[in-house]
Order: sequence, then C-alpha cells, then structure tokens
Amino acid sequence: MSKTEQFDVLIIGSGAAGLMGAIQLSEDLSIAIIAKDQLLEGSSYYAQGGISAVLDSADNFNSHIEDTVKTGFDLGNEQSIRFMVEQAPNAIKDLEKAGVEFSHQGEEYDLTTEGGHSAKRIAHVADKTGQSIQTNLLAYVRQKSNITLFEHHIAIDLLMKDKQCFGAYVYDKQNNQVSSFISRKTIIATGGASKVYLYTSNPDTSTGDGIAMAYRAGCKIINMEFAQFHPTCLFHPHAKSFLISETLRGEGAKLTLPNGEPFMHKYDERAEMAPRDIVARAIDHEMKTHGFDCVYLDLSFKDSHWIVGRFPTITERCLALGIDICNERIPVVPAAHYTCGGVGTDINAQSSVKNLYAIGEVAHTGVHGANRMASNSLLECLVFAKACAKHINNSGRQTADLPTFDHWDASRVEHSQEKVVVSHLWHEIRRIMWNFVGIVRSNRRLQAAHIRLTQIQTEVDEYYQRYVLTDDLIELRNLVQTAKIIVESALSRKESRGLHFTLDYPEQLESADNSVITKNPNK
Ligand code: FAD
Ligand code: SIN
Repeated sequence: MSKTEQFDVLIIGSGAAGLMGAIQLSEDLSIAIIAKDQLLEGSSYYAQGGISAVLDSADNFNSHIEDTVKTGFDLGNEQSIRFMVEQAPNAIKDLEKAGVEFSHQGEEYDLTTEGGHSAKRIAHVADKTGQSIQTNLLAYVRQKSNITLFEHHIAIDLLMKDKQCFGAYVYDKQNNQVSSFISRKTIIATGGASKVYLYTSNPDTSTGDGIAMAYRAGCKIINMEFAQFHPTCLFHPHAKSFLISETLRGEGAKLTLPNGEPFMHKYDERAEMAPRDIVARAIDHEMKTHGFDCVYLDLSFKDSHWIVGRFPTITERCLALGIDICNERIPVVPAAHYTCGGVGTDINAQSSVKNLYAIGEVAHTGVHGANRMASNSLLECLVFAKACAKHINNSGRQTADLPTFDHWDASRVEHSQEKVVVSHLWHEIRRIMWNFVGIVRSNRRLQAAHIRLTQIQTEVDEYYQRYVLTDDLIELRNLVQTAKIIVESALSRKESRGLHFTLDYPEQLESADNSVITKNPNK
C-alpha cells in the first residue's frame, strides 16, 4: 500500500553532510533522514585521510584559501572558499562535541599533509577518519526524538508543485512500496556520482541520484566535467574499490615504476605532493606509454610499528590480500573518486529551486573549482550542512497546509522477465565513461559517448515506463542522466583546466567562463 508521510524537513542521505545537517537543525522541527542502503553506508564512512583545518599556530586562513584556489586552477569561488576555511576549526569542534577523537601527538593534533597543501593541516583519526565521524554522528542523531531514520529507502523523484519542492517519492526496498514523503524543506545529501565510471574508490551508493533528481526538477547543475580520479587505489583482483590514502604520500611514500624507478619528479617539482589531477595524469601516462598494469607506492622504508599504528586499516586490508606494506610496495592505479560539480547552491546551500537545498558532494558550492584539494570534501560537507540548517532554522515556521500529491501509480507496469537489460546497460554506461570520458579526453570520444548515452537513455526510459520498479532500475535511470550531463559539460568546456584535460584544447584559457551550467530544457 502506498503511504504518505509528512515532515518539516526531509533529508535524502545519511552521510557526513546529511547527519551533520540533521544535528544542526532546531529540535522543534520534525525531520526524516532516508538512506538507500544501511545508514552508515556511503563515501563518508570510508574516508581515510582526514579533514583540513587551520589548527596549527604556524598555519593561517589565507594560506589554506590560497592553496584551495590554486589547486582549483583559479575557478573556485573565493567568497565560498573563505567561508569554508574560516569555519573549519568550528567544524572540528562540532565533530569533537559529537564524540570524534582526533589523533594527537601529546597535547597537539597530529596534523599531516596531502597534495596541494602548503602546511600541515589535515586532522585525522588514524586512517579511520570517516568511520569515526559516521559512527559518532549517527549515535548523536539517534538520541534526538525529532529525527526519524529510514534505511533502505531510496528517493525516486522530487515532489514538485508550482516550481517548488515538497519532498520526494520514496521506494522502500524491503517492502517494494513507493510512499510520498511530503516536507516543507528538502535537503539533498546523496553524495557523488563516481559509480558512473567502471573503476572507482567509491561505495555502491555513489550513483548520482541527487544530481539526476535535481536536474529533472529544474535545478541548475554546475561544472560536472570535473570528475576527480584518485591516483592510488589498490590494484588487486579481489580488492573492490579500496583506496590507498594520499596521506601515505603525505608521510613520505614514493611512487615507482615496476622496475623501482621514481617518476613523479618528471611531471611536477612537488613530485608526490603535487595535486591529484597531476599525479593521476602522470600515472595514466606511464601506464599507457609502457603498457604497465599498475605502478607502485612504497612506504616500506618507514618503521613497521609506526606504519601499523598510523595506517591500521590499510595495513590490515593489504595483508588480508597478501601484501605486507611494511616490507613491500603496494600496487596502485587511478580510479574515479570525487564529483567536483553538482547541484548549484549559494552559501546557505539553497539550490535554484524553492525550498530545495543541496549539501555535501552532491552540491556545487564553488569551493573546489576545477580540482578539489585533498581533505576539503568532508570539510565542505560539515560547513555547508551547518549553514543550511541555520538558514532553515531562521526561515520562520510555516503552518499552511502542505499540498497533496497523487499516490504513486504502479497499476500499468508489469514484472520484467528481462532484468539482464538493466545489468547490461549499467555495465555499458560505466565502460563508456571509463574509456571515453576519463582522465584524458577528446572531442571524438566525447561525441561518441554522447550518441550512445542518448540512445541508452531512451532505452532506459522505455523500460522504466513499462516495468515494475527495482532499486537497480532507479539507479540506472540516474546513472545515465548523470553520465550525459558529465559528457555535455565536458563538450562545453573548450579548454584544459584541472581535472578536465582534452587533446583538442590542450591549453588553459586565460579567462575562462567560471561555470558550465546544465539545465533541463523542459523546466
Ligand atoms: P555520502 O557519504 O556518500 O553519503 C550519501 C548518502 O546518500 C548515503 O546515505 C546514501 O545511501 C544516500 N543516498 C544516495 N542516493 C540516495 C537516494 N536516491 N535515496 C536515498 N538515499 C540516497 N574526503 C575528505 O575530505 N577526506 C578524506 O579523507 C576522504 N577520503 C575518502 C576516501 C574514500 C574511499 C572516498 C570514497 C571518499 C573520500 N573522501 C574524502 C571524499 C568524502 O568522503 C566524500 O566526498 C564525502 O564523504 C561525501 O559525503 P556526503 O554526505 O555528501 O555523501
Ligand atoms: C585520501 O585519503 O587519499 C582521500 C582524501 C580525500 O579524498 O580528500
């Protein structure tokens, strides 16, 4: 039976952004958080490296701002960057209040560094930063009686009336039912879209659902061409999506070719500490030039006890696969990691659609420009979640009746005997994106990708109209929409800048249009 639920605020996603948003909302508001998997599942839980914040007296806000602008190839919005950087120490305090215990050296934070940072400013919990954040935030949220949690509930589409958002249609995966979650304010916190690529560091949740839903509802989607590839994911047949943190390089690890030769110095004077677009492109170039399956990351020159204490998760996971990182090099390859573009928002996380907000990786707040600097993502999640909550808390309490919406109509669809179509198209999209829209691009490959993705979208739409919903089908519809937006954005940017590198326009334009905006032409 189709149901209707009503809340003041609906939060779609229970990652660091969604949970922090819920914590910061006033307790007089009724709040629903929905998550399409278990509540802890999502990129946030797997974050290893840490969170950037100026916490050392030798560091300062201007330096963090300059590094962020430079790493983003001057495309970032300086007002948003300044806001994020200045709020960073408070974000660390908010986490500590929720119970997160950062690693310390004596009285001081054990700060480390990563590519692009000119100072030690990454606070971390060993290499389990995300796990600690998520378990503590979730425990904190569970204490609040005004918040209701719905796991295994996947949002299908936003509920729109008179160009305003009033919640979402939500599919309960365990009961196979669609309900209307009607709300006064809706916050999209669905994470990124790196699953559009065949190889990714991300968990299965990152299918771009929030971006596709927002696009269909008429939001502006900004700069989706900037898909970030992390240089070092574990290369092993049994390691699905396992990251080898950039903080290993921050602690001195070296990248080498199979014959042991270092190579990063040939590409950038910062060598291993160059921003990750440069490191990923260098590895890609070496692998393609020489036909290598992978390159290697070597930390084995460090003391074994120190390695195990500093990187317990990575040590343990590698050992389970037969790689002893205290004594051996780690085989690594680049993989899709982060979506820099997203739903365009202002400094209060408001999208271009009324009553609809976006926070976390799904949003484009303008802080990352053409390339995100390491450990600025969790920071963005926390700072803009708080700004969003503050805006909603101060927006006055509405008492008018909420509009009504038709129940989801499943009377005209049938059960599919051809689910293989869904799995085939999933795989085809991810292969197209990996081969044609990857680290190095060209017009020819982008156009070929666009033609086939347009056909796939028609096939998916026909299937969607005809057959009973499944979560795979909901995600497939979003995956193809998001992939198409990435390709269209890439075709629109006629230069190479940061994460968007194309053989047809190898130069960076002197003054580039800040934003490639994609908008649903039917809205
Ligand atoms: P997520 O944490 O991905 O959460 C998304 C939520 O949305 C999930 O609850 C999911 O179930 C839900 N969802 C999605 N679609 C739907 C739908 N249709 N309906 C209902 N629910 C839905 N960044 C850093 O700053 N520092 C790091 O050290 C770091 N390390 C990383 C390591 C790894 C392996 C990865 C993958 C990323 C890392 N990042 C790091 C990036 C950072 O972790 C993410 O950008 C950030 O956690 C995103 O948080 P989020 O809340 O926006 O989304
Ligand atoms: C990492 O630990 O390498 C990931 C850091 C990030 O994505 O910011």
